[in-house]
Amino acid sequence: MSATKRPESDRHFVVVANRLPVDRVEEPDGKTSWQPSPGGLVSALEPVMREAGGAWIGWSGDAGPAPGAFEANGLHLVGIGLSEEEVQDFYEGFCNATLWPLYHDVIAPPVFDRRWWDAYVRVNQRFADAAAKQAAPGATVWVHDYQLQLVPQMLREQRDDVRIGFFNHIPFPGYEIFAQLPWRRQVVEGLLGADLVGFQRRADASNFLRACRRAASLTTKGQVVHADGGREVTAAAFPISIDTATLNEIAQRPEVRERSAEIRAALGDPELVLLGVDRLDYTKGILHRLNAYGELLDEKRLGPRPALIQVASPSRERVDAYRALRDDVEVTVGRINGHHGEIGYPPVHYLHQSYPREEMAALYLAADVMLVTPLRDGMNLVAKEYVACRFDESGTLVLSEFTGAADELAGAYLVNPHDIEGLKDTIVRAANASPAEARRRMRSMRRRVREHDVARWARDFLDALERVPAGAAGGRG
Ligand code: F6P
Repeated sequence: MSATKRPESDRHFVVVANRLPVDRVEEPDGKTSWQPSPGGLVSALEPVMREAGGAWIGWSGDAGPAPGAFEANGLHLVGIGLSEEEVQDFYEGFCNATLWPLYHDVIAPPVFDRRWWDAYVRVNQRFADAAAKQAAPGATVWVHDYQLQLVPQMLREQRDDVRIGFFNHIPFPGYEIFAQLPWRRQVVEGLLGADLVGFQRRADASNFLRACRRAASLTTKGQVVHADGGREVTAAAFPISIDTATLNEIAQRPEVRERSAEIRAALGDPELVLLGVDRLDYTKGILHRLNAYGELLDEKRLGPRPALIQVASPSRERVDAYRALRDDVEVTVGRINGHHGEIGYPPVHYLHQSYPREEMAALYLAADVMLVTPLRDGMNLVAKEYVACRFDESGTLVLSEFTGAADELAGAYLVNPHDIEGLKDTIVRAANASPAEARRRMRSMRRRVREHDVARWARDFLDALERVPAGAAGGRG
């Protein structure tokens, strides 16, 4: 806890995100401590938080009472509590079985459940109330992602004086898909409580502007929505990125390079190492990738004894579609290994685990070809992390057209993951790229992620938020 007591509404910069940037750890003596969970978002926002005496409002990831306000790692955090029922109805239900599949092109069928919607409204109100309490007069409040789309309006209703930004980390779907949502108007109006609504790609911002016209009968001009009460709200693209310099530095550490050589040796020093790194999520195209790899092995197009490492970190494990995906992935891995494996040679190394950044950097360095093949992805930071780690400019990247990253990483081998023949041909091309060709491509991608890192993303968004007309009088004042 902080030594000096500050009034609650004393924070000039408030981040509101579903997750806190820390994980709860139960100590052997029964006490709770908080470990930083390193992520791009917190590293980008930390300097702004410190300078402005900021607060971060979020959920710990566990069911139970609200942890309340506490200091961790020098940051002021405010923990929101969710009951077990709210975890099921809000987080697993409306966020991850309704909005997540809907916003990812209905790859899995979204479930529309009125009780889940009620929980979504209730939990969003809780986050908005906490933000209203923390924000100093005239503060900037930055709300994040699809879990909290109603927060901007709920906050605006209580606090007309604050400047509100919202950033959607996942895609915003085309109107034909969005229109399925029974609460489409409420979601659009919720977002329009913000002064600036940011998206990963320009296409997402256009989809949102169309939803404003169709679902809320509003007019738009360019990037500006003429919202109710004469307010103007801007919708624009701000592609998120990673902490490039830190990853580049980690990858060059001697122990990380040694670990990467150790990984290749443990694989039997194969000529070709392919790598996939994903949350175990049906949007990531893991099955498409495995099937393509299996067929390439059937056709012997990858040379002798290639290795595929597939890291699939556990995610949302109580949601039905995720359970079903895990079963399908594990059956497919078993089939490929059963068919093509030999004693001491499994063609797929499947790791259903999460790893620290150093181990991830070693894996990225150990790969010859990185496979990023989502069916839909707002950005895909794995693609950028791989590029940031390849300090020697070697390695190639196979990247789905349906990721935000594809708009930026022109040096990647772009692919439509639904086209299995195309995917196979592209993997073979990427695997056989000459060192000069690979270097040319990697160099251009490295330039991009160096110049457009997560700090620049945060700066660009916050600068734009400063410039747009804000508050109740936005557009008139
Ligand atoms: O960017 C999408 C996102 O849902 C984030 O909001 C989230 O932190 C991340 O993916 C991981 O998902 P979850 O918080 O559900 O584990």
